[in-house]
Amino acid sequence: MQMKIVIVGAGRGLGSVLSKMLAERGHTVIAGLRVPDRTSDRDNLIYLPMDVTKESEIHDAAEWVKERFGEIDAVVDVAGVLLSSDRTETLLTESLEDIREQIEVNALGIITVFREFLPVIKTDGMFIGVTSEGGSFANEGSLFPAYGISKTTANKIVQTMRVTVGDRIGVYAIHPGRMNTDMGRTTAQIEPEEAAMGFCDIIEGNIKIKKDQWFVDYHGKPMPL
Ligand SMILES: NC(=O)c1ccc[n+]([C@@H]2O[C@H](COP(=O)([O-])OP(=O)(O)OC[C@H]3O[C@@H](n4cnc5c(N)ncnc54)[C@H](OP(=O)(O)O)[C@@H]3O)[C@@H](O)[C@H]2O)c1
Repeated sequence: MQMKIVIVGAGRGLGSVLSKMLAERGHTVIAGLRVPDRTSDRDNLIYLPMDVTKESEIHDAAEWVKERFGEIDAVVDVAGVLLSSDRTETLLTESLEDIREQIEVNALGIITVFREFLPVIKTDGMFIGVTSEGGSFANEGSLFPAYGISKTTANKIVQTMRVTVGDRIGVYAIHPGRMNTDMGRTTAQIEPEEAAMGFCDIIEGNIKIKKDQWFVDYHGKPMPL
């Protein structure tokens, strides 16, 4: 079945790979860019400006999608930042400005994308927030402290949104694996293509996530909270 899917954070890394992969599989992809610096040569891959820190831009994108397509099948918010200061500083030394920026993009961004696109997602459709194993309380390390805090917040946001909207759509937080991207290069175990294939299978319904699960990895397997 050909689907209509919004990917937010499609500029680089997983978001870029996933957008192109879904388009190659015949779906219509509306790919959101923080910096609208490109156009597509495919009819079924459309780039739109979508900076998750700009509510009005996400609102306009959702309105555009509604007018053009009516309803869509899925929204995936892949947008994320891990600032260089978070790799070197601790919670004692990192600037509040940098901590705030990571929470703004990685956590609050999910609220904005979810709120604006929820009315456009069809019944039984899907919303995915890409979070991280770093957001699990089972992960006690002090590495990437603000990033971890932002992803724990993102997980809680997804859990709360899921309960808020009930069963009309599926709402999930997904850990994409440790990927070889600009963000993950230093800890990478997989290429972003491998994660993207898992996301495609979850979106297309080839991988079914158990009803009571909402924080899973890209294979659809439960993650520790
Ligand atoms: N890589 C890993 O090992 C790993 C592990 C666990 C979780 N994750 C999560 O997986 C997701 C993808 O990571 P990645 O490795 O592909 O990262 P990446 O290569 O650094 O790409 C991050 C993407 O997020 C976009 N973005 C950043 N701020 C944004 C904003 N304000 N509005 C819209 N888009 C924004 C970036 O856009 P620009 O290109 O314009 O900057 C870029 O397209 C992130 O949420 C990340 O936290 C990654």
